Amino acid sequence: MITPSTLQPFLASTLKSTDYSGLGKKYSGKVRDVYIQETNKRRILIATDRQSAFDILWCTIPLKGQVLSELSSFWFRRIEDIMPTHVIAFPDPNVTVGKELKMLQVEIVVRGYLTGSSKTAAWTNYAAGVRNFCGNTLPDGMVKNQSFASPIITPTTKGEDDELIDPAGIVAHGYATKDQWKEIEEKAFALFERGQHVARERGLILVDTKYEMGYDEHGILTVADEVHTPDSSRYWIAESYPSRFEVHEEPESLDKEFFRLWLRSQGFEYGGFRPTITDEVRLMLGAKYIDLYERVTGERFKIPTETNVAERIRKNLQSYMIE
Ligand SMILES: Nc1ncnc2c1ncn2[C@@H]1O[C@H](COP(=O)(O)OP(=O)(O)O)[C@@H](O)[C@H]1O
Ligand SMILES: [Mg+2]
Repeated sequence: MITPSTLQPFLASTLKSTDYSGLGKKYSGKVRDVYIQETNKRRILIATDRQSAFDILWCTIPLKGQVLSELSSFWFRRIEDIMPTHVIAFPDPNVTVGKELKMLQVEIVVRGYLTGSSKTAAWTNYAAGVRNFCGNTLPDGMVKNQSFASPIITPTTKGEDDELIDPAGIVAHGYATKDQWKEIEEKAFALFERGQHVARERGLILVDTKYEMGYDEHGILTVADEVHTPDSSRYWIAESYPSRFEVHEEPESLDKEFFRLWLRSQGFEYGGFRPTITDEVRLMLGAKYIDLYERVTGERFKIPTETNVAERIRKNLQSYMIE
């Protein structure tokens, strides 16, 4: 495993935000900077090193953007036989160039296990007595972190506030026709099955994930955004899952849960105490992300030779400039 000190040279030049003129109309998400090129029908997704948790932007983590972006490209390559992807190119370790699509106004959440703690999570709703969850009938007597008989899809609407929705609602709102939704579900299940299969070979459980899909200029359903990254998915360690489940212990997780746990262990409270993120912690987190990359992909993470990530990206995006 990479030691935190290996990342020392990257501390001073982490990618907090980008400002590339000539790359298109910029939009900043929580983690990525997005440049939209309307005339070329392209969208450039740049993963920055920003670290958010509990809806707070805390700091930057060295090479985290590269980890996220390369994990997504790893997965895009492993699902492209299932359906078309938006990927045009990966011109830089932090960058995906995608085809601009007419996006579905719902996010397609696929869940293999009854878990989660947000208001749209399966466990939150089940514990509150919900048995018809986005059109899926759930049996009584299930417990937290239990596997569903087979994966379920629990869509949410896109926008400021994610709201749960069922297939009937999707059709009623005109987000998709019945036939379109059928194809979307089939593809989402196939992607998830592939994801679970590949994860399993790596000793991991792909617990749940979120897909975004859209239609290209020919009306072909295409998977966009990112696939199976720790920002869009939950992973558990397979080996310890059964014994922990047996005694009602939380599974060992491999998503960005380690940062949330660290914050909590330092006394973080909503609206209250905020621990200081020292450089030592940033280095430790960077090494954790790289460990995550290597576990999921089974491949060595390539530490870049140059430390100025922003400048490297600028060079690599030269041929994508439009002005
Ligand atoms: N190929 C694509 N065509 C059009 N929109 C896309 C495509 N891929 C991703 N998007 C959109 O780009 C945006 C990426 O923003 P993101 O970094 O996820 O920030 P946030 O989710 O915090 O708004 C999302 O709105 C996503 O739906
Ligand atoms: Mg997003």
